[in-house]
Amino acid sequence: MEDKGSLVFKEAKKEEEVVNLSKFDVQAFTDTQDFSWTLDNIKKEIKTGWKLYSVVTDDEIVAAVLVKRDGDTLHTKNTPIKMAFQGNGFSHQIKNFYEEEAEKFNVRKVINYCPVDNFRMIALNESHGYKRTGNAFGNNQNIIEWVKVL
Ligand SMILES: CC(C)(COP(=O)(O)OP(=O)(O)OC[C@H]1O[C@@H](n2cnc3c(N)ncnc32)[C@H](O)[C@@H]1OP(=O)(O)O)[C@@H](O)C(=O)NCCC(=O)NCCS
Repeated sequence: MEDKGSLVFKEAKKEEEVVNLSKFDVQAFTDTQDFSWTLDNIKKEIKTGWKLYSVVTDDEIVAAVLVKRDGDTLHTKNTPIKMAFQGNGFSHQIKNFYEEEAEKFNVRKVINYCPVDNFRMIALNESHGYKRTGNAFGNNQNIIEWVKVL
């Protein structure tokens, strides 16, 4: 699919940027995420080393991305893309961003997490060369882990 517009990835560092991103509208999907999208939960992620980015097109936040380096691995996860912006190929740009971040950190392994029942994200991971590690997390083991070695 042809990309409709480019995404900009802005790291949320200041308190106000984190607060703003915590208000990003993910309500339709909270039950499929491994945590609910609240300011407290996001702050906990940042405290444990996750870097938070807003994913922006035309001044609108369409998703949020989290990355965390651990040794030779970059852990990655993202919120769903805002409903009105799905189907634009943005998820491919998010995947490319992960690989660019991995290069910046000089790590060769990218780990990604997605809900076990999200067949679209599963197809996306497979088409980008990710393999299931066999690990699962979350309350009902509903978050599955994927790896890509660059
Ligand atoms: C799933 C998601 C990551 C796809 O991102 P996107 O940028 O909106 O999707 P696109 O339509 O551009 O498709 C990107 C890739 O996702 C996968 N995909 C999207 N729709 C798909 C479908 N109906 N079946 C299988 N794979 C699909 C494909 O790998 C596709 O790549 P391709 O277009 O090269 O074949 C994104 O829509 C999302 O976060 N969705 C929220 C969760 C969800 O699935 N919601 C739907 C039910 S409410």
